Amino acid sequence: METLLLTTKQEDIKTAAEILRNGGLVGMPTETVYGLAANALSSEAVSSIFVAKGRPSDNPLIVHISSVEDIEKYNLVREFPESARLLAEHFWPGPLTIIMPKSRLIPKEVTGNLDSVGIRLPSHPVARALIKEADLPLAAPSANLSGSPSPTTAQHVMDDLKGRIGAVIDGGQSDVGLESTVITVCTNPPMVLRPGGITLEQLKEVLGEVSLSDAVLEKLRDGEEAASPGMKYKHYSPKAKVYLVKGDSKDFCGFVNSQPFNTTAVLCYNEDAPYIHHKTISLGNRADSKAQAHNLFGALREADRFEGVTTVYVPCPDKEGLGMALFNRLIRAAGFETIDLKDTKAYTLIGLTGPTGAGKGQVASILREQGFATVDADKVAHKALENPECIKNLVESFGEDILNSDGTINRRKLAGFAFKNEESTKALNRITHPVILQLAKAEFEHLAKEGFDNIVFDAPTLFESGADTLCDKIIAVTASFETRLERIMCRDNITKEEAHSRMSAQKPSKFYEGKADFVITNNSDLENLKTQTITVIKELCDEQ
Ligand code: TXA
Ligand code: MG
Repeated sequence: METLLLTTKQEDIKTAAEILRNGGLVGMPTETVYGLAANALSSEAVSSIFVAKGRPSDNPLIVHISSVEDIEKYNLVREFPESARLLAEHFWPGPLTIIMPKSRLIPKEVTGNLDSVGIRLPSHPVARALIKEADLPLAAPSANLSGSPSPTTAQHVMDDLKGRIGAVIDGGQSDVGLESTVITVCTNPPMVLRPGGITLEQLKEVLGEVSLSDAVLEKLRDGEEAASPGMKYKHYSPKAKVYLVKGDSKDFCGFVNSQPFNTTAVLCYNEDAPYIHHKTISLGNRADSKAQAHNLFGALREADRFEGVTTVYVPCPDKEGLGMALFNRLIRAAGFETIDLKDTKAYTLIGLTGPTGAGKGQVASILREQGFATVDADKVAHKALENPECIKNLVESFGEDILNSDGTINRRKLAGFAFKNEESTKALNRITHPVILQLAKAEFEHLAKEGFDNIVFDAPTLFESGADTLCDKIIAVTASFETRLERIMCRDNITKEEAHSRMSAQKPSKFYEGKADFVITNNSDLENLKTQTITVIKELCDEQ
């Protein structure tokens, strides 16, 4: 079947209406998501929706109308309860579906044999024009293949259903981005079955008491019935496995940065994107749940377009307001798999960094004397090059020439290839940094089990590697240029010129000072360095 891509012009709406009157299916823009519309009064037309979507037939459809009067005009309900009238008055046209006792005119295919029907008056002008032009109530589920994320553009509908339906009207991107709130007035008090654009708080303001179905926020137990059949199916999933991650922004960034680069994508907030070293898709600002709702389904679809990505991490939203709908969709996309970072971290991680010659190593020794455990990033980086996955990826990027005859990495040769230019250095870092972070985390956890509460990660490129996002606090050790120059010449027995060239390859002290919680300026002697370090330790312990 050819699927027409129609515009919102009157003649195209007429064409779409004609298709509907003839029992066909049309992808229809609405303010929530695109719907797959059919004549709600025809069993045959409605049945073909289930076939096109691959949808289980016990999952009922919403009936869309173009004015409140349509309810009586088409004789859709046995009763239009007072609470439903109130809701209609306040929230229609808009993203609210009201479930009421159904009339006999509604075919059982629409309601999955239930005795009630969900009705919605959308605010999208094109949806209403189409309903009016067809002169029919339109049954319409979201216009996606069953199980995949709901479509928020005409292109999404085409991607899923091209060749299976008569037409799609391109009405631009859906404004809300999540499906309507579903509330039933067949219970006392009325119950929200699916959260959406109209929040629980808004509904309570109008109705007073409103309950929330268990299935909204939790997984149904085996054998438990969902008040809304749609809530029992796995939904909204891209092909990659989605994990919902609970934890603050910093822990989130630290966690995702230590996941393998090639196979990981991250849905995140704008504020976190600069700190994440993986492929990211931003959902909007952290506090802007409207933007997040608007972007969510598109982002889930986009995640599947990254080549090789098998895992997608998403921060867990708060459940207030629109956040409840976001959480509801995401927890389903994740098949109820969440990762709670609070459960996994039982130690304070202190990052220790600074430019060469500043005395970072000495600070690490003082911290050890004071009972802190330290992990040396350079040593971990060495170990990372023994990791088989890492070796495989490095060979893929730089060729077999980086290997010794026994298959291990020849570090000198690798350095020759990897530091040739900025691009190759980036490639090296992309492959090694997540492995280094993962191995380092394993060491932190091992030390925590041994009883260390405070662990220091001694890393010259703490910020560049993304390891800063793992840390609770960061200490930078710096010193004046002249002092560092003297120290490097003396320590490594090199000329002034050589020391200069090494130092100029590094970031200036200001870079470290601007990003650290504590700065130790080491221009004097060891005694002074010790005093400063102990002051920092005291402040650290006071904060804990
Ligand atoms: O925003 C929306 O509601 C979109 C647009 C196209 O209007 N439509 C939509 O339809 O999301 P669908 O079929 O994907 O979701 C309908 C939800 C399902 O969870 C279904 O179980 C529930 O509404 N539902 C429909 N009628 C019901 C009824 N009589 N009793 C209980 N739940 C019902
Ligand atoms: Mg749906």
